Amino acid sequence: MKRALCPGTFDPVTNGHLDIIERAAAIFDELVVAVALSPDKGGGPLFTVEERCDFIRNATSRLPNVSVRPFDTLLVDLARELDARVIIKGLRAVTDFEREFQMAQLNYRIDDDIETMFIMSIPEYMFLSSSAVKEIAGFGSSARGLVPDEVNERMQERLHERR
Ligand code: PNS
Repeated sequence: MKRALCPGTFDPVTNGHLDIIERAAAIFDELVVAVALSPDKGGGPLFTVEERCDFIRNATSRLPNVSVRPFDTLLVDLARELDARVIIKGLRAVTDFEREFQMAQLNYRIDDDIETMFIMSIPEYMFLSSSAVKEIAGFGSSARGLVPDEVNERMQERLHERR
């Protein structure tokens, strides 16, 4: 049984993330999507960790081997707890590389039984990020096609409430 962990902040999940999740789920027996609380990232997340988990649950409901859970520990500790030997990360443009390389090295230093593997983003999603999507929505424009429709609607509402 090969279980992999796909971690991130997912504030909110984008269609680029979902593409990586779907491709990883086709390779492993089980894929656990682990949503970090990340309270300090980018001035605090737009959505609560439960909201972020629910968006991913709804968008992956047709994938029976995908589960979603929040976490607030070291990623490697969660991997050990779940008996997952592989961490899956998506890689977009080269700009991701340095940060991802650092995280992968640190995680390997903490536990060399756990491997980080990367799935390259498809060109269509190469420049898609949660922060870009929030910026688009923040200026009142639709992010349809970049995030699930539910996320697009909730993002407009949430940003409107904050104005
Ligand atoms: O979506 P992100 O912000 O790129 O995800 C980053 C995340 C959540 C995977 C990373 O910050 C993380 O692993 N956090 C848990 C704390 C941890 O293990 N830190 C040490 C490794 S850098």
